[in-house]
Amino acid sequence: MRILCGTILAAAAMAAGAATPSAIALVPAPREQVWREGTCAFVEKDIRCVRDAALPPEGYRLDITPDGVTVASADDAGAFYARKTLKQLAWEGCNSIPCGTVMDWPAFKWRGVMLDEGRHFFGKEVVKHELELMADHKLNVFHWHLTECQGWRLDIQRFPELVKYGAVRPCSVAYGHTGLAERGDCVFNTEPYGPFFYTADDVREILAFAKERYITVVPEIEMPGHIRALLAAHPEFSCKGDLPRVPNVIHSIEEDVLCAGNNDAIRFMEQVYDEVCNLFPGACIHIGGDECPKTRWKECPKCQARIKALGLKDEDALQAWVTRHFTDYLAKKGRRAIGWDEVFAGNPGKETIIHGWHIQHGNKFGLLAAEAGHPTIVSDLKSTYFSLPQKTPDDPFTYLSPGTWLTLETAYSFDPFAGMSEKAKPHVLGAECCMWSECTWNIYDLDFKLWPRACAFAEALWTSPAAPRDFTDFSRRMAVHRKRLIAAHVNCAPLK
Ligand code: ACM
Ligand code: ZN
Repeated sequence: MRILCGTILAAAAMAAGAATPSAIALVPAPREQVWREGTCAFVEKDIRCVRDAALPPEGYRLDITPDGVTVASADDAGAFYARKTLKQLAWEGCNSIPCGTVMDWPAFKWRGVMLDEGRHFFGKEVVKHELELMADHKLNVFHWHLTECQGWRLDIQRFPELVKYGAVRPCSVAYGHTGLAERGDCVFNTEPYGPFFYTADDVREILAFAKERYITVVPEIEMPGHIRALLAAHPEFSCKGDLPRVPNVIHSIEEDVLCAGNNDAIRFMEQVYDEVCNLFPGACIHIGGDECPKTRWKECPKCQARIKALGLKDEDALQAWVTRHFTDYLAKKGRRAIGWDEVFAGNPGKETIIHGWHIQHGNKFGLLAAEAGHPTIVSDLKSTYFSLPQKTPDDPFTYLSPGTWLTLETAYSFDPFAGMSEKAKPHVLGAECCMWSECTWNIYDLDFKLWPRACAFAEALWTSPAAPRDFTDFSRRMAVHRKRLIAAHVNCAPLK
């Protein structure tokens, strides 16, 4: 660390007021940085903060002179991000930083990380650890995927059976295995998993922690598919009406979904969302909507009766009706629904935010949604799904998808506007990287998969998409930055 400080200072002196000294390693790289001769004895409590309404939202200008540090920003978030830049310059308590000016603002206002706690539950301390890292990298939306076929992770006080049955499963896929029958890899352990869930107090603690770091928390309560854990607690809301009272262990797309023809099931979900809205004050609630097989609906008298009564064309139209019902329900409560891009096929209201995940992958609903004027979030399967292995030689997760990689370079090349027309671009709010957890058991796995790829992702969202990207320069900066992460006890994966 001392060595790094020394290197920075020497480099800054060398720079003499011009280009970026090669040893300064800011991640994400700011839009403008000019380094001058001299150093500043940096004392955090003496930072001068001023408002500058001419700066963009969340943007900042940092002036470092021998007399001290001045932070200018249009808002509090900008001042917070300026401090994050200073934290990197003053890494490891180095109290002498190079003089210069740094200016930056984000290209996208929605810069998210999605964490799946349904398959594996990480718990409050791990969530806080990742929130801290998100803030360090100027990411500002935590998409909390709280319900899945394999686990229901939120205590809904009105319906205690949700966690009684939904938050515990009899066993799990064994560590290092996929649990996928098509791979011939169904190895399971025999240990009960759970009960693991968040109480209302836990949620309030996480929300407060996130707020202090300018992070908005968006809960995801999935339906009508991916709800086998809910149906373990309330099998009466499935089409069959009776199911084993345990969540799924295997990782498959489950055919038992919410019975869309059952008014009690619809009312139940409304009451779940009521409680979720009371708990989470943010503007947006993610309602899922992806991967909902229609097998049960085709056979269910209640679902078929609903289709007939509403004059719907088929089961896809029934899902569109469900989506519209809940987006309207949430809108009446002053909330905005977000749905994975499958919901776009059902022609939801224009206010519905579409979360594209197939964007550059054949199914182009995300692209079409932005084109049609929906606010859109991009999570491209090929460049932001960090559950995929990284192709580094020692990646312990290579077994997950031999031959399908998401390298650091691919993460760095992510462009939320890829494939979009000029008409679509203004509707893109930003992007999320996705951390699915079927095969992510603990904090070490989670860190390894997120970092350093989430550093590349953060840079892609702060940098103007029109600006050239230089992966060689990013790699150079990351080599320093990885040391910072490791010093902060982050199990950051090797760069190559
Ligand atoms: C998804 O990956 N099923 C959204
Ligand atoms: Zn049904």
